[in-house]
Amino acid sequence: MIDVSALKDSIKDWKGDALLAALYEEDCKKVEGKCSAAQPYEELVKVMVERKDFEGKKGSTVKIPLLEGNVKNLYLVGLGKAEERTSAALRDALTGALRKIGRERNESALILADKSAPESDVILGEAAGLCGYSFEKYKKKDEEDGGGKFVLKKIFIDGADGKQTKRGQIFADAQCFARDLANEPGNVVNPETLAQTADRFAKEFGLTCEVWDEKKLKLEKMEALLAVGQGSENPPRLIHLTYVPEGKAGKKVVFVGKGITFDSGGLDLKPSDFMKTMKGDKSGACNVLGILKGAAALKLETEVHGILAAAENMPGGRAFRPDDIIRARNGKTIEIDNTDAEGRLVLADALSFASELKPDGIIDMATLTGACAVALGSWTAGLFTMDEKLCESLLASARQRGERLWRLPMDDEKIGETLKSKFADLVNAGDRYGGATFAAMFLNEFVEKGIPWAHLDIAGADFMKEDSGVYARGASAWGVRTCLDYLLKLQ
Ligand code: BES
Ligand code: MN
Ligand code: ZN
Repeated sequence: MIDVSALKDSIKDWKGDALLAALYEEDCKKVEGKCSAAQPYEELVKVMVERKDFEGKKGSTVKIPLLEGNVKNLYLVGLGKAEERTSAALRDALTGALRKIGRERNESALILADKSAPESDVILGEAAGLCGYSFEKYKKKDEEDGGGKFVLKKIFIDGADGKQTKRGQIFADAQCFARDLANEPGNVVNPETLAQTADRFAKEFGLTCEVWDEKKLKLEKMEALLAVGQGSENPPRLIHLTYVPEGKAGKKVVFVGKGITFDSGGLDLKPSDFMKTMKGDKSGACNVLGILKGAAALKLETEVHGILAAAENMPGGRAFRPDDIIRARNGKTIEIDNTDAEGRLVLADALSFASELKPDGIIDMATLTGACAVALGSWTAGLFTMDEKLCESLLASARQRGERLWRLPMDDEKIGETLKSKFADLVNAGDRYGGATFAAMFLNEFVEKGIPWAHLDIAGADFMKEDSGVYARGASAWGVRTCLDYLLKLQ
């Protein structure tokens, strides 16, 4: 973790590598005496603005090497128009700028930024925690691209509230932890190694962890999870983690994660273009592990459970087939229409189990449908719930954490009718149209009525092609910060 501390000296006395001054367009126009963020360098900013080399435009960053004084480089970072300010834009701008600073051989940085944004110290903590993330453990160090090795180690913030920045860092740390796991390929992370990893980290974080292997899954009637995993040499696992607060527990919340360590589609094999990146189909489960890590680090007063439904969807000789009829844990029978609609099957058993824990709420996270990604794009996750209060809370937390979330319907009666099978209680797939809603309504059949439940479809948002703001290329662990924010505000 990068060391973040409040600035003790005056800005002028600070000695270090990079001084980051984040400015709005308005700040640039009235620089003299008005703009505290760049105060010691007002003259320089004035010249830059006059020459139109820097105008505070959103996304712009200018590096000015300083020939004398305590600071090596001044970075001017544009925040755009003040009237259009959002906390997400501030977080993105700061994370992006710190990433650049860290890759340009700066080991220490002082941040001078807008402190009027709500939760600005939490945001600074998040930026500090997210800026250094990349997944490069399998690359030779000298082959690193993207502007060099990240060396930033120490960040100073002018007038920071340490408790708030720490909170932001914990959010970010939990997210980076989930990214690291989700970025691992299918030859490294399979259901068994995922369970071993979860068990190892559970001990480290002070959680309990119980793993069910294929024999136990059979005894526990988790035929849907078993069916999905049976075509693979790597048998499925159900992983149950628990964080119990030290004092008297307040509420109890269960997170359920889709943990398909690789989704080939099964016998309904995916075309190659769609199979690529399907190592990411375990993102939901990895995120849940990250949330549990964060819950423990934040010492929440809520009891938090994590259920990871892990299987590898492969077209082996024992693979489940289209037309198969399986009986899920809650007794409902499911006719398989498409083996590539496997996520909802493993979640079916996991959601039944989650319901049996009689929690105050269940939130599941899954890279569930291409349809959700088509509807919402690559940066926005889908929210499906019939609980208005949970809906409002999750949308608010997502907004505060700068993770894009949009509610989609799950009350479509016509789609509801198509869940029915001629030969079983349910069928696992239907029309392509409304595919994300169909999947959500299918899951609903396995959640006990009366328990507030939300489904987050993170297909699309789980994976980023390029570094951009808070995101680094690869797994995004979308939703880890949102869910931790939700848990914090619950107590
Ligand atoms: N894991 C996929 C969904 C997915 C697609 C995630 C793209 C991330 C990016 C899921 O298991 C799947 O294959 N869904 C099918 C369902 C269909 C067969 C009903 C889909 O969305 O095409
Ligand atoms: Mn699939
Ligand atoms: Zn899948």
